[in-house]
Amino acid sequence: MAPSNTNPVAVADEVLQKSRVTVVGSGNWGSVAAKLIASNTLNINSFHDEVRMWVFEETLPSGEKLSEVINRTNENVKYLPGIKLPKNVVADPDIEHAVKDANMLVFVTPHQFMEGICKRLIGKIRKDAVAISLIKGMEVKKEGPCMISTLISEILGISCCVLMGANIANEIAVEKFSEATVGYRENKEIAEKWVRLFNTPYFMVSAVQDVEGVELCGTLKNVVALAAGFVDGLDMGNNTKAAIMRIGLREMKALSKLLFPSVKDNTFFESCGVADLITTCLGGRNRRCADAFARNGGKRSFDELEAEMLQGQKLQGVSTAKEVYEVLSHRGWLELFPLFSTVHEICSGRLAPSAIVEYTEHSARLPLL
Ligand SMILES: NC(=O)c1ccc[n+]([C@@H]2O[C@H](COP(=O)([O-])OP(=O)(O)OC[C@H]3O[C@@H](n4cnc5c(N)ncnc54)[C@H](O)[C@@H]3O)[C@@H](O)[C@H]2O)c1
Repeated sequence: MAPSNTNPVAVADEVLQKSRVTVVGSGNWGSVAAKLIASNTLNINSFHDEVRMWVFEETLPSGEKLSEVINRTNENVKYLPGIKLPKNVVADPDIEHAVKDANMLVFVTPHQFMEGICKRLIGKIRKDAVAISLIKGMEVKKEGPCMISTLISEILGISCCVLMGANIANEIAVEKFSEATVGYRENKEIAEKWVRLFNTPYFMVSAVQDVEGVELCGTLKNVVALAAGFVDGLDMGNNTKAAIMRIGLREMKALSKLLFPSVKDNTFFESCGVADLITTCLGGRNRRCADAFARNGGKRSFDELEAEMLQGQKLQGVSTAKEVYEVLSHRGWLELFPLFSTVHEICSGRLAPSAIVEYTEHSARLPLL
């Protein structure tokens, strides 16, 4: 049978049946994802060794371009300093060039940039490409929330799985054991291919047929992590923090199932669910910045704290809290989700951080949750 593509590289791949992977994004998690993937593509015959990594180009204080430094030193000195990337990771600042030969696209940028990135890629990717999103967050449209995997599928017309889990990037970078969950819609074979691409002895990946459940877990836990950070910043102790995490998990599950009735209960017991919630509430950047916000009595904005504490990394929880609030208020559900609503009201300065434990009487009467 003649190859179906006119691109010579794609034709060669089709003949050899080898998959080519491009990682779209090169922040903290993007760089670790490229490291994981590149260690596998070297050892598994069905993948091409080279992994392209699109870099949103920036000039470093030394005057050099970040992508050039990554290719010269095999290190993302800005977003993952001190960790060597395998030599088969090739940084590429030209997004169209980075994706053009790939049939497996791994999206891993802060969620607010994804719509623009997808629009730039229309007509620029292989026809047989499939995608996976490692991105935590959602877009809020007039017609309701749009998960990032849906955004990718709709704009680019390709299937999109998700990978989420208890995955603080810096810990995986030094190969400490952790787990992750791939969520897929109907094609189990594609899900298994993603599992093969990511799975390593220290990164154990399993697949569940529940894209929305997995993605909503990854997205909503960042809002709970802010609540946990407020509790820490106010020195409220472990019992309070555990209570906040439990209430948060209950709201995560209730909102996910209200938005997508197909979401499965078991998904909340996978790595993407309760495990990610725990690690984010103990160690993530949202918790850390919310802790500082509360210690400063809400007087220093999250924008200021993000710039000072994260050195270019992005805080996802604050924008997600706002997006969730918009969804809740649009649907008349604010009272059903007191923790989610309160987090946004604290982040936007309408309530003091101490309000994080001042809604319990109200929530006790809620039959839905
Ligand atoms: N870091 C983690 O531990 C972790 C773990 C799991 C999931 N995630 C998720 O992964 C996603 C990516 O996070 P990250 O940690 O790789 O990134 P990051 O926050 O470390 O870095 C920000 C990235 O955004 C890029 N950027 C800045 N402005 C841009 C623009 N205008 N357009 C496109 N890109 C731009 C920067 O170059 C950088 O690569 C997020 O959704 C995050 O929630 C992160």
